[in-house]
Amino acid sequence: MESRRIKIVPLDSIHDKFVVKWRNDPDVSINLFSNDILTLDSQRRWFEVYKNSDSRKEFVIYTLDDNVAIGTVGLTDIDMRNLKAELSIILGEKEYRGKGFGEEALRLILDFAFENLALNKIILKVFKYNESALKLYNKVGFKLDGILRQDIYKNNQFNDVIEMSLLKEEWNKTITNI
Ligand SMILES: CC(C)(COP(=O)(O)OP(=O)(O)OC[C@H]1O[C@@H](n2cnc3c(N)ncnc32)[C@H](O)[C@@H]1OP(=O)(O)O)[C@@H](O)C(=O)NCCC(=O)NCCS
Repeated sequence: MESRRIKIVPLDSIHDKFVVKWRNDPDVSINLFSNDILTLDSQRRWFEVYKNSDSRKEFVIYTLDDNVAIGTVGLTDIDMRNLKAELSIILGEKEYRGKGFGEEALRLILDFAFENLALNKIILKVFKYNESALKLYNKVGFKLDGILRQDIYKNNQFNDVIEMSLLKEEWNKTITNI
């Protein structure tokens, strides 16, 4: 799947080393709910489980002009009974942040979720302190569902978590307005 400056390709075992590097980076891991330090071995084992799972679809984001892998975007807990899934995104290569690549990647995965998988609702959870992610999610149309107060213990404190969602009907309105 491609947009103006990026493509997203299905996650493969060749990406294990990138995932380990990105998820272990303190600038990224501070925003993740998991506290695990990854190793190449643990990531290889995770990938073997992932590839046999139907409830999760992960993609790697590549720039089109220089073919650099810059991050991941994906859907977890894909629920075909209620037609919903949870979104996640990481731009691991810092020099590519704040330049609209995250927004492009979200638009591609949302198109995949609502058009290819025919889902009805995408949800996400984000720490209240993650301002750049919150701005990005607001920008593409996510709406606040609620605040889970002091939900995740991380960095020696209990942190509030924001829950947001985007419905297919809202997405359809956004894309006809572009
Ligand atoms: C959150 C993240 C995916 C954003 O991606 P990005 O490519 O940097 O964001 P974009 O450049 O597409 O920006 C989209 C909007 O987000 C906001 N934004 C982006 N970077 C920002 C920053 N450093 N500070 C404040 N707002 C920012 C802006 O409002 C921007 O809109 P604008 O272009 O109209 O100003 C990226 O910073 C990242 O991977 N962070 C670490 C991992 C993470 O937090 N993932 C989310 C976990 S829930």
